[in-house]
Amino acid sequence: MLSKSIEAALNKQIRIEAESSQVYLAMAVWAEVKGFEGISNFMYDQSDEEREHMLKLVKFINERGGHAQISELNAPNISYSSFKEMFKKLLDHEVFVSESINELVHISLQEKDYATHNFLQWYVAEQIEEEAMARTILDKINMIGDDKGGLYLFDRDIQQLTVSSAADTPGGA
Ligand code: FEO
Repeated sequence: MLSKSIEAALNKQIRIEAESSQVYLAMAVWAEVKGFEGISNFMYDQSDEEREHMLKLVKFINERGGHAQISELNAPNISYSSFKEMFKKLLDHEVFVSESINELVHISLQEKDYATHNFLQWYVAEQIEEEAMARTILDKINMIGDDKGGLYLFDRDIQQLTVSSAADTPGGA
């Protein structure tokens, strides 16, 4: 059974994951409208993943006798000055999510809720991967700068990045 404070903290994370999904969906749309199909597909996939993260929390809370809260969400940013800015925001956002997960881990230990602590380890591992991916992308984008040809190639290559990261996690993460 979840304590009220753990339930509240997990519910806060539901909202963060749902908002992450919206943030990445807006990025996908922005890239798609600009004609960058690869980047757009990558961001659509990220958005789907965030929804999965959200659903995992929903199920966990309900299974443990709590009540998952589905709340209103803050509107995401819908346009960016450049892909560099967009991917910088992606990294910043993942760092923010990691901090939030760390705080949850901290609370679960304080309350000696080892089931929740164990459940959260999946998120800890996922955040390491997501931050690493965002840093890799940002490094590439920084190298490309404003070069249109480079961006065109990157739009094609980012799909490979998605494929290889999916292949790296057998059974799915
Ligand atoms: Fe669910 Fe990308 O954090």
